[in-house]
Amino acid sequence: MLELRPITEGIGTEVLGIDVTEKISNTDFDRIYEAWIDTTILLIRGQDMTPDQHVDFTRRFGEVFSYTRSKFNEQERPEILVLSNITKNGKPIGSPYSGRVWHSDGAYLENPPAGSMLYAREVPPVGGDTWFGNMFGAYEALPEELKARIEDLKVVISRVRSRPYNYPDRPAPTEQERAEWVDVSHPMVRVHEVSGRKALNVGGNVPWRIEGMSEDESAPLITFLQEVAVLPRFTYRHRWQVGDIILWDNRSAMHRATPYDETGTRRLMHRTTITGARSVRPAA
Ligand code: SIN
Repeated sequence: MLELRPITEGIGTEVLGIDVTEKISNTDFDRIYEAWIDTTILLIRGQDMTPDQHVDFTRRFGEVFSYTRSKFNEQERPEILVLSNITKNGKPIGSPYSGRVWHSDGAYLENPPAGSMLYAREVPPVGGDTWFGNMFGAYEALPEELKARIEDLKVVISRVRSRPYNYPDRPAPTEQERAEWVDVSHPMVRVHEVSGRKALNVGGNVPWRIEGMSEDESAPLITFLQEVAVLPRFTYRHRWQVGDIILWDNRSAMHRATPYDETGTRRLMHRTTITGARSVRPAA
């Protein structure tokens, strides 16, 4: 029988009593979907999914799409992004690491994704955990005066400026990338399109700036808000077990991967992404 249990007081719901490869009734799915929207992440343990089943289950939450590097997409199901340090015939089968600074996925896109579903296939004995932060909680904890001050501000996100923070080992963006990666601006207070609840949108550890200000002028307020956003009461560090699924709501959660021994141990994660463009819940 379906059971929903808070992961911590500040973030997340663990979903028990379901097998995601079996039919989930509309009534049960409504409860699961609402818990996702309300608490920003869902954890479902002990699942055994094929790539097809992974994509099918993701589709219940929204339209699946891919915006990342196609060379790391799963061969059978290109909607799946492979995150792994494993190599085959001398070539990496996935992106060896991703997202080691606090971020929400595709923040630099005009329409960032609504959510992502990460599934653990192989996990190292130590490390490779993932942090999650609840941006509803962070916003709601701000003093009313500060909420009023930031209400109409916009943050400018530069993919070019973020690159060395997100991927320090990759070469600097080429001239062509610089020309293609135009800055985008998004509200600093994001209104969730399903619940109408407000969430802080400030990224983490990367030099975002406030529209109309320089990076230096923006830094004190942005840095302060980034620090509030990851206070322990809004965050949760997930220690993965094989078969775990975590679905995060990218509109109200930030996340951050942690390092592991990439030379002596293996990590294999599959990720699907849900489109944010006019994101609506599909009919059952
Ligand atoms: C991500 O940022 O999507 C990857 C998280 C992880 O590998 O733990």
